Amino acid sequence: MCGIFGCVLLKGSAVEQIQDGIKRLEYRGYDSVGIAMVDHGVLQIRKDAGKLSDVSKRLKFSEMRGSIGIGHTRWATHGAPNMINAHPHTDSNGRIAVIHNGVIENFMELKKELIEKGHSFVSRTDTEVIPHLIEEEMKGDVGLRDATLRALRRLKGSYAIAVLSSLEPDKIVCARHESPLVLGVSKNGTYCASDVPAIRPYTNKVVYLRNGELAVLTVGGYEIMRVSDGAEISRDLEEVSWDLEMAEKQEYPHYMLKEIYEQPTSLRYGLRLQEKYVELITTFLDRGKEVFLVGAGTSQHSCIAGSYIFAKLARLTTYPVVSSEFVERYGSTVGIDSTILAVSQSGETYDTLKAIDHSRMRAATVLGLTNTVGSTLTRVSRAYIIQQSGPEIGVAATKTFTSQVLVLSQLALRLARLRGKLSQDEIDEFEAKLKKVPGWVENILERSREPIKSLAEKYIGDKLFIFLGRGISSATAMEGRLKLLEITYTPALAYPAGESKHGPISIVEKGTPCVFVCPRGDTHAEIIGSIMEMKARGARIISICEEGDSEIEGISDDTIGMPKGIPELLSPIPYAVPLQLLAYELAVLRGLDPDMPRNLAKSVTVP
Ligand code: G6P
Repeated sequence: MCGIFGCVLLKGSAVEQIQDGIKRLEYRGYDSVGIAMVDHGVLQIRKDAGKLSDVSKRLKFSEMRGSIGIGHTRWATHGAPNMINAHPHTDSNGRIAVIHNGVIENFMELKKELIEKGHSFVSRTDTEVIPHLIEEEMKGDVGLRDATLRALRRLKGSYAIAVLSSLEPDKIVCARHESPLVLGVSKNGTYCASDVPAIRPYTNKVVYLRNGELAVLTVGGYEIMRVSDGAEISRDLEEVSWDLEMAEKQEYPHYMLKEIYEQPTSLRYGLRLQEKYVELITTFLDRGKEVFLVGAGTSQHSCIAGSYIFAKLARLTTYPVVSSEFVERYGSTVGIDSTILAVSQSGETYDTLKAIDHSRMRAATVLGLTNTVGSTLTRVSRAYIIQQSGPEIGVAATKTFTSQVLVLSQLALRLARLRGKLSQDEIDEFEAKLKKVPGWVENILERSREPIKSLAEKYIGDKLFIFLGRGISSATAMEGRLKLLEITYTPALAYPAGESKHGPISIVEKGTPCVFVCPRGDTHAEIIGSIMEMKARGARIISICEEGDSEIEGISDDTIGMPKGIPELLSPIPYAVPLQLLAYELAVLRGLDPDMPRNLAKSVTVP
């Protein structure tokens, strides 16, 4: 969480680029914002609680001067979101400014030590120890780079930082450990940021900093060193393949809506996976004696859907596990015979990385499915595959879910072939259906926006929703519930429908909206039974079902019709789409910003 951005420009004022960079990183957190710049040898800082658009006006960011600066957008971990706790933080003399993404675990003991040495602190953040440590190290006539190196060696925890000082106003020193940081070089300057979209307007040439590395940015470029021993590291620039348009809102009012509508395209990309990666991952999956699918949030729902697909198509038992529970639950048994397929859009989710770190230590095979080339997950995995959905900015993941399930389906199909679990005809048939997925989604998007708007108007006043599905549709139901929770703050339950009679049914009253996910397939007859149970208790039934499914239509208050011929195993992809739209329309009707839901962040890089 938190977004950091820095730039050193050859000419021109840096403040516009810093603001633009922060804006593009707001999906990482947006409770406070701050900028530090050096102008004529003086460090200036403006910061406050609130989103960039408000704080920028209030504090007149555009009046700040200088061609070098750093900016931060915050998602609070230590200390409430207020002006004092907003970044940048400074040393005692206000000459060293630091922005930080991550958590410094030993900040209490460092703070105590620094206070004993005479430093005084103003904030409640963990970050503030960093400028003070650097200040302390600079006392012996040590330069900013080396002082930062020394300071970093004392930190435990995770960080991506950028340091700016009036003492050496020509450079930004930045570093990372377990929080992402990418460098960029253009003709007019050098950049660092938490993520590529922030620097993409200026360059497509980037370098991903790795754990335990520090970089010094100047107008002429960058130098990289290892924090542990100061050894120089040479790494060439890479070219980013996607263009800026892909990471901008274009004509859509929100990123979330844009990303929902991009799904036919992202799914088409997702069908063009590189052969050798599919091959490699499948081979590893086949070899594992036990296979875990590990993810958080939406990625966890992809794992649940994936577990049904692997079982039914390839006869492979997999265990879907929430990342944050993995170590506690399987940490003492995971070992050399285990394979972990970590699923993470960002490739940077702390809990997911923690689960795989633990597994690697115990000699397990770690595989990755991610959207982010150069992410930590790609570096620590034995083999990885990219979901190919392009940048996703909306905090609520949408195209991530559909792309991940599509990739998992293709892996399962390949595995089924490898294991001889399907006939050639069955393989051909499933392959043909896979190719139809983008078209189905396109069709749904074309025809269901207006009906879903009307549905949202009808249910706008409801204070509780229940989402139910059987089999693989329980994953779709959970994803639908998550969208609603994330962006409308409406309490909602999601359960495998068969389990609803063991508890959830007790909260059903006359009129409670129950959303049923009912594709044609093995679970069709059973879901009718579950609908009847809820209906008997007065629930209003909203069903997502195949068009012309008269059995479901006959017992539902409202239905959203899906194209015919979608196999149940692939249904999470198209059936999730109306649920994404429903959550979106409800949020907009309630005057909420679906791109920036309260208390959430796109990328959770802290424990
Ligand atoms: C956060 C985001 C979710 C996302 C989850 C996992 O909670 O708000 O949208 O699904 O992290 O992210 P990952 O990048 O690991 O898929």
